[in-house]
Amino acid sequence: MPNAIQSFLTDNKVSNINYNVSGDSIPSYDSYKKLCLEAENNFEEFWGGYATKLLSWSKTFSKVLDDSNKPHYKWFIDGSMNVTVNCLDIHLTNGNSNKNAIIFESDDGDVSKITYKDLFVRVCKFANGLKNLGYKIGDRCIIYMPMSIEVIVAMHACARLGIIHSVVFGGFSSKSLHERILDIGASLIITSDYQKRGGKQIPLKSAVDDAISLGNCDSITNVIVYKRTGSSINWLDDRDLWMDDLENNQLDYCAPVFVDAEHPLFVLYTSGSTGKPKGIQHSSAGYLLWSKMTMQWTFDTRDDDIFWCTADVGWITGHTYIAYGPLSLGLTQVIFEGIPTYPNSDRFWKMIENHKVSIFYTAPTAIRSLIKSSCIDPSVHPDNFDLSSLRVIGSVGEPISPDTWKWYYKNVGKENCPVADTWWQTETGGHMITPLPCLNYLKPGSCSLPLPGIFASVVDESGEEVPNATGGFLVIKKPWPGMIRNIWGNTERFRTSYFPEELKGYYLAGDGAQRDSDGYFWIMGRIDDVLNVSGHRLGTMEIESALVSHSKVSEAAVIGRSDDTTGEAVVAFIVMKGDKPSNEDAVNIAKELRNWIACEIGPIAKPKDIIFGDSLPKTRSGKIMRRLLRSIANGENINQDTSTIENISILDKFSISF
Ligand code: PRX
Repeated sequence: MPNAIQSFLTDNKVSNINYNVSGDSIPSYDSYKKLCLEAENNFEEFWGGYATKLLSWSKTFSKVLDDSNKPHYKWFIDGSMNVTVNCLDIHLTNGNSNKNAIIFESDDGDVSKITYKDLFVRVCKFANGLKNLGYKIGDRCIIYMPMSIEVIVAMHACARLGIIHSVVFGGFSSKSLHERILDIGASLIITSDYQKRGGKQIPLKSAVDDAISLGNCDSITNVIVYKRTGSSINWLDDRDLWMDDLENNQLDYCAPVFVDAEHPLFVLYTSGSTGKPKGIQHSSAGYLLWSKMTMQWTFDTRDDDIFWCTADVGWITGHTYIAYGPLSLGLTQVIFEGIPTYPNSDRFWKMIENHKVSIFYTAPTAIRSLIKSSCIDPSVHPDNFDLSSLRVIGSVGEPISPDTWKWYYKNVGKENCPVADTWWQTETGGHMITPLPCLNYLKPGSCSLPLPGIFASVVDESGEEVPNATGGFLVIKKPWPGMIRNIWGNTERFRTSYFPEELKGYYLAGDGAQRDSDGYFWIMGRIDDVLNVSGHRLGTMEIESALVSHSKVSEAAVIGRSDDTTGEAVVAFIVMKGDKPSNEDAVNIAKELRNWIACEIGPIAKPKDIIFGDSLPKTRSGKIMRRLLRSIANGENINQDTSTIENISILDKFSISF
């Protein structure tokens, strides 16, 4: 790395010394270093101590870590517990019973609140309903619901009984839903009639009906429907049930099913570098411990906090920092049904002001879009709102550029709130590398230092650590309790994708990174064929397979290009079965292909640019030259070696993008 960049990375610091850690985080940089050392010297005691202190066990564990079958690490051997006991029951007797667990704001702006006691009762009643239907530990349940109190009830009712849930983001199509139902072998689906987002009503139940009609779903015995709008839906009397009806007349206590520490709490699908999404399997005890610890450390939580994470519960952020972490700590949290731009782009700032949010956690893509809106219409600028309740602000899901960071720090945090640029993944269960509030310096664009107990490093292709200021693979050298346990039904893929032998068995994150001379980490983006569009992870192969399944498409190559708002945008290079379409036809075909992708995967995967050509640039061995396509899509001069291209003349024949 050139010296100028290196000194920018090292010197572009923002002092954080005015922040006073007086909540549950690590009080000072010295104590942070001490904890890191403690984890290094007494690894098992370190984790065992936290597991004893922070979790309620029905049977205590006899051993902290079993690493006899790497990389299938097992944590808290012989321990059993129930996640909902740790998120709900404990609050019935610790003074939190009448405290609001959730402040829910609907798309329309209606607000409803639920206390810990009432949430506990709803979870128990719903769990009793599920139990009466015969669902039990180990069964799999797909949850396809909008942001609501009900989705939290559904997830916890599953956890109460040891049913493994798999939440599917409401923006995925019935085809994607079908793929997940089959992969996990679900016997139950919990959905809602519709969801409301940005003033629109979007059908969910009909997508479930469509998914089931795609076949091989005989394992599904019930579809339980939360009535969100009451608009009409199709109904199958012997399969479909209203959530309300199931809860009514149930007892308001349901005995928790205590599960083994390693029992899968959930499986969450995410994209990888093949055409098929991976079911990331998480544990119960280790996962919950890591959610709780990282909530405390990163956000310096306090009892009177109002926490708001704007993610959807269909992603890992919504699991760890909505469904589980905040409840485990007895915090009050805001859950929002809508989108940041409806009815206006001041929605987030209004909600922070109205609910007196003290910790705000959102994605760079939302910040970028709100920066744009406030340039166009100054009345939606955060300066027009009282955001003085904020203490810590966070960012998640994609790199936050130094400019966006600075805008967020200045205009939202008013230069008083540390920005927690949290680096982590679906697979890591919770934050891994993130600026703690006790750090003396923050660096815009850097996710800073690993949390204590997390042995992050940057290595070359043989697993050797690279010097500072040198790019390499981001790896985690030792296991941690919140880590992925398996890929559902695909142990081989789990081992080879995450623990390749040549990297000495380290966990391979799939991101490139480098460290500066202060040891701060800078994430350089994915090293595999995974895109990050608006913080959503999409596999290029997944989109390519969907495109070539269209009857008119012969070949497709998908790459990412940078985009001001969404971070990355999907670009599809298409070769049609017949001739390359005329510009007139291309407009219609591009529209048809976008709709096709919306149906095959979901609207989030629609290509922004579609470029038609006669064939794709390939090497003599038939490999598509993606780097070259990336240059074309980004409008760059092609200055890479093209001598290996089989068919060089095709480069001039790509159409403009449609
Ligand atoms: O590339 C990294 C990026 O998001 C990927 C993980 O995506 P997903 O599993 O969907 O989880 C998103 C929510 C944690 C990572 O491999 N990423 C996540 N956080 C950051 C980031 N890139 C840079 N900086 C971050 N803070």
